Amino acid sequence: MHKSVMLNETISALNIKDDGIYVDATLGYAGHSSEILKRLKRGRLFAFDQDEEARNYSFEKLAKINSQFKILPYNFVNMKKALQKEKIDLIDGILFDLGVSSPQIDNKERGFSFMQDAPLDMRMNKNNEKSAFEVINSYSEKKLLEIFFNYGEERKSKIIAEKIIQKRSQKEIRTTLELVEIIRNSVGEKYFNLYHPERKIFQAIRIEVNDELNVIKQVLPDAISLLKKGGRIVILTFHSLEDRIVKQIFKKYSDVPEIVKGLPEIPEEYKPLIKLVNKKPILPSIDEINKNSRSKSAKLRIVERI
Ligand SMILES: C[S@@+](CC[C@H](N)C(=O)[O-])C[C@H]1O[C@@H](n2cnc3c(N)ncnc32)[C@H](O)[C@@H]1O
Repeated sequence: MHKSVMLNETISALNIKDDGIYVDATLGYAGHSSEILKRLKRGRLFAFDQDEEARNYSFEKLAKINSQFKILPYNFVNMKKALQKEKIDLIDGILFDLGVSSPQIDNKERGFSFMQDAPLDMRMNKNNEKSAFEVINSYSEKKLLEIFFNYGEERKSKIIAEKIIQKRSQKEIRTTLELVEIIRNSVGEKYFNLYHPERKIFQAIRIEVNDELNVIKQVLPDAISLLKKGGRIVILTFHSLEDRIVKQIFKKYSDVPEIVKGLPEIPEEYKPLIKLVNKKPILPSIDEINKNSRSKSAKLRIVERI
């Protein structure tokens, strides 16, 4: 089962009011959502997940708490439009707990795991067309190299991309373990055992299949515009690329632009929209890392609308 990461820290960062409107952008297995819902009386929770299995499980779980919630079956990138349909223009807080859940990884059919044999898939939303199979069997060598290098930060991306192209010209690459074998043969046993390139390559493919970095870039400005004064965005990231994007966007919206710095009165249109609640990201405790290895790379950032 999925162990929610930094549960106390994230819930306390949301400053939940019992009549507030909250959004969980990444419902998953409702660990965070349950805690939000328990704190609501007249308030409401809108929870997004693009994974049907996660939504079905979490509906049952949340329904046992109270009925102040609605699950929205969309990618969170469409948050603003989906909330408008619900007649919600402004909200008190949003939580993002990015990436995949443990059940998604553990369910071997989903093809996220490099340790279990399954068809190459990795789609969080099974209705999407692009799966890991398309990426591996139809992308150009240059595109594969870019993805492996940028999203996986793998040093041996070039040789791995070359070997994939070579192999697939003989026969389609269909399964996760076939791909792991190609990676192992490209880099050699010693490098493979020492640096685990398969981890990084699988991460890169997952990011590409689910367009994970672009959706963060697109949703954060919308999320900021949805916040009431004093409302908060609380966001957990799990790798440096995600965190860098979040940090840059929060900086942009919390800074006074150079051209108006030093003026006696900052013109309205240049006033920052948010303030950083914590300058540096908050990290999980050693105790949590020992109990839940998935939390190891977590970084928590919090901003507040001003
Ligand atoms: C790390 S899990 C969330 C776990 C949850 N906080 C809990 O405590 O159980 C992330 C979830 O967000 C979903 N997800 C990731 N990116 C998404 C997106 N762009 N739109 C909608 N759901 C997304 C995944 O399907 C997954 O179920």
